[in-house]
Amino acid sequence: MTCATPSLGNEASPFRTSRRQVLGGLAAGVGLLLPGFALAQKESLIRRGTPQLTLGPFYPLDRPEEDADLTHIAGRPGQAQGTIMELTGRVLTEAGAPVAGALLDIWQTNGLGRYHHPGDESGLPLDPNFQGAAVIHTDAEGGYWIRTVIPMPYGRRQRHIHFDVRGKRRRLMTQMFFPGEPNERDTLYPTLQSAKLQSAVTARVNGEREGVRLFNWDIVLAGE
Ligand SMILES: [Fe+2]
Repeated sequence: MTCATPSLGNEASPFRTSRRQVLGGLAAGVGLLLPGFALAQKESLIRRGTPQLTLGPFYPLDRPEEDADLTHIAGRPGQAQGTIMELTGRVLTEAGAPVAGALLDIWQTNGLGRYHHPGDESGLPLDPNFQGAAVIHTDAEGGYWIRTVIPMPYGRRQRHIHFDVRGKRRRLMTQMFFPGEPNERDTLYPTLQSAKLQSAVTARVNGEREGVRLFNWDIVLAGE
């Protein structure tokens, strides 16, 4: 399929830095007049919606559309290596309304810690049965579902799944983390400077079914 590939970010310098700089500049400007108001305004702006995190260097070059099962390659009998998981969630506005038809561009490492991307020079093995990425759309209730393997950490990154979410009016690039992991050691997670923001990018455990780990994660598109 063809999907426009945005310019690549750097995982060590997330886009949110520039956003914070803008917000900081705005707050500082207003703060000359009303310091307390400016601080509160800055906090409320930063806390709107699911936080943005960098795109990273491994934005997929190619991926199938509407194939939400990353554990198989269509037409091949094999299954991806690793622990199978299913992720469900909804894309919502800040008011809690569903965002139907939102596009979710999703990518992650395989069960061995390797991105299926030519830029990944880790030397870790590719998994010929792992799809690596997908483009899907939310249903009428804003819901989505993917079946994949739990991504492996790499370098100074903890387990995460990349999301590029496009609603009707807003686009969000972010990453989903896993609960119960040493996320404080990640290079990006601690840059979210409150428990609320960190919670907003962390999935919650939704049980287990026949050995498949189940997770849930809602995405809030600020300004949608
Ligand atoms: Fe990554």
